[in-house]
Amino acid sequence: MNPIVKRKTIRKFKDIKIEKEEIISLIEAATEAPSAHNFQPWEFILIDDQETKERLSSKMAGTWINNLEKDGRPISEINAKVNTSKNRINKAPFIIIPCFDTSKVENYGDERDKAEFIMGIQSVALASENLLLRATEKGYGVLWLCAPLFCLDDVRSVLDIPEHIMPQEILIIGIPDEDPKKPTRSNVNEVVHYNGW
Ligand SMILES: Cc1cc2nc3c(=O)[nH]c(=O)nc-3n(C[C@H](O)[C@H](O)[C@H](O)COP(=O)(O)O)c2cc1C
Repeated sequence: MNPIVKRKTIRKFKDIKIEKEEIISLIEAATEAPSAHNFQPWEFILIDDQETKERLSSKMAGTWINNLEKDGRPISEINAKVNTSKNRINKAPFIIIPCFDTSKVENYGDERDKAEFIMGIQSVALASENLLLRATEKGYGVLWLCAPLFCLDDVRSVLDIPEHIMPQEILIIGIPDEDPKKPTRSNVNEVVHYNGW
């Protein structure tokens, strides 16, 4: 099966270490992605150190707990959600955090900057998808966690990331320990619009 069709989110991983060389081959695939102006505004933080994973998950959990409390969620639900999330990070065989280097995009000092910013994010997302496809091809599973976007400063402070670097997501990479059914997709006819909306 081709990797575009085969790729699906994996949330359970075998307790098997992934070698750095393997991760680098995924990063190589990521950097083949197209990018606006060929600016290649991507950077990748690689994490396999247990203490770093734990510091990161704890710091991020603090902000999430505050947000869930603000939403008035019951304490039992908050604890369950936050523990699942911390475990995912703490037990991750390997973590990659694709980042957007905002200093690499064009800066006009006017409305066009918004478009450039979006193009930067799009470029890092394309690099991330390349990474997911190469990982699938090689038999790895990947879980994409959007959490960093909700606590950018937590991630920056734990990992010493400068202000102009924007972590986009946490990618957990490992050998799959589950074979979930891929969620169904909309029918192509439901999402295409010929010659206008
Ligand atoms: C931008 C983005 C953010 C996501 N964030 C999360 C997340 O925080 N937690 C999670 O379990 N899955 C997350 N996912 C995975 C999606 O839930 C998953 O891709 C979707 O349900 C479709 O399933 P599939 O990847 O198996 O095709 C995210 C995916 C994307 C592209």
